[in-house]
Amino acid sequence: MSVLLIGGGRCLEGEVPIQGAKNSVLPILAATILARGMVEVRGCPRLRDVEASVRILRALGCRADWEGDTLAVDTAGMDGCAVSDALMREMRSSAIFLGAILARCGRAELSYPGGCELGPRPIDLHLAGLRQLGAEIDESGGMLHCAAPRLEGREIVLSLPSVGATENQMLAACGAAGRTVISNAAREPEIVDLQCFLNRCGAQVSGAGGSAVTVEGGGMLHGCTYTVMPDRIVAATYLCAAASAGGAVFLRGAREDHLATVTAVLREAGCEVRPDAAGIFCRCAGPLSAVRPVRTAPYPGFPTDAQAILMAALLKSRGATVFEENMFENRYRHVDELTRMGARVRVSGRTAVVSGVERLRGAPVRCTDLRGGAALCVAGLGAEGVTRVGEVFHIDRGYQDLAGDLTALGADIRREEEND
Ligand code: UD1
Repeated sequence: MSVLLIGGGRCLEGEVPIQGAKNSVLPILAATILARGMVEVRGCPRLRDVEASVRILRALGCRADWEGDTLAVDTAGMDGCAVSDALMREMRSSAIFLGAILARCGRAELSYPGGCELGPRPIDLHLAGLRQLGAEIDESGGMLHCAAPRLEGREIVLSLPSVGATENQMLAACGAAGRTVISNAAREPEIVDLQCFLNRCGAQVSGAGGSAVTVEGGGMLHGCTYTVMPDRIVAATYLCAAASAGGAVFLRGAREDHLATVTAVLREAGCEVRPDAAGIFCRCAGPLSAVRPVRTAPYPGFPTDAQAILMAALLKSRGATVFEENMFENRYRHVDELTRMGARVRVSGRTAVVSGVERLRGAPVRCTDLRGGAALCVAGLGAEGVTRVGEVFHIDRGYQDLAGDLTALGADIRREEEND
């Protein structure tokens, strides 16, 4: 089991490139199934969830080969339409393969993805939209047996703007005859990235980034070369790391237009944040101030994935900040761990109140989930003494090399293998 050992109290200084976006590359890898021909995905982060996607593609008969940070996928040999339960369980967002397999093969057999650390992870909206496009889906024994000899474009109205449901339906709609309009679609930048990828493969998708996505389906897609967008949550993590430890960092490739709500809060707290065409510069000196309530919401609202990370950066701020988590039920599990470091956070239902403390002390803590784990590292950088972060495998799901990146910024952080 790996642990991260963080010596707190050092200012961060320097520059780091931002990896490709996990939440972009996962649907893009599922989308490669729709393309006949070789797809080269560049800037592909090496993450546990990406490796899990690669295993799913290979199990379906596709070739997937790494060369540096490029993943080449060739679906010519695809001869399967079933994903085993073991593979489905490796990655929470494996349901994203459903729409693509269905569009290509006319049927799909997947096990039900189930819940996760953040609470229940329903896919009812994914399935409702696919049914509207003509899929017959039988949910029995924890399995999804899906058949769709012919998918037909339709108007789909999502009852809430689910990211995964929007993506799944975009992929299925590419294989449906005629026009599909997805209303109340999620507007996240990753949806725009998926649209760009699909169009590069010859699809006709428009409207992503707005609340209606239109797909003119039925055409054959071809291969392409595509570079994945930078990961906005990784960028938010390093901005918050600088806020927690103090210092001046430049995040190469980070896009402020994707991070406007996060940078607005950091400015309000007292950080200097300056974007330019190449990335985002952030300088933080002296104690931060508490900020107005932070409420997570679908994009362009404050991202739920940055909630824990920002909270960690504000633990020593002057005053009290209220957080309201509106996206997932179980997203304050990092709070107990932060408390071990001397943080004062009171949770009541979906609200958490952070009262700034004078100092944080390094302590042994354990990652509870991906972003909660990153938050412990952010707090550790601003704490006195050594923080020992256990269960680092959660962090590996979303950060290619968190310790390496923070070391490049001058942090005292190292990874060690420990026997259980
Ligand atoms: C994606 C991101 C995740 C992020 C989340 C919200 C990926 C791989 N993951 O997850 O990092 O935290 O968006 O920004 O892109 N819901 C339903 N029924 C459904 C689908 C969702 O009730 O069929 C609910 C969920 O329980 C949740 C809310 O809708 O409360 C938002 O979920 P959704 O946008 O679907 O998130 P994911 O796509 O799973």
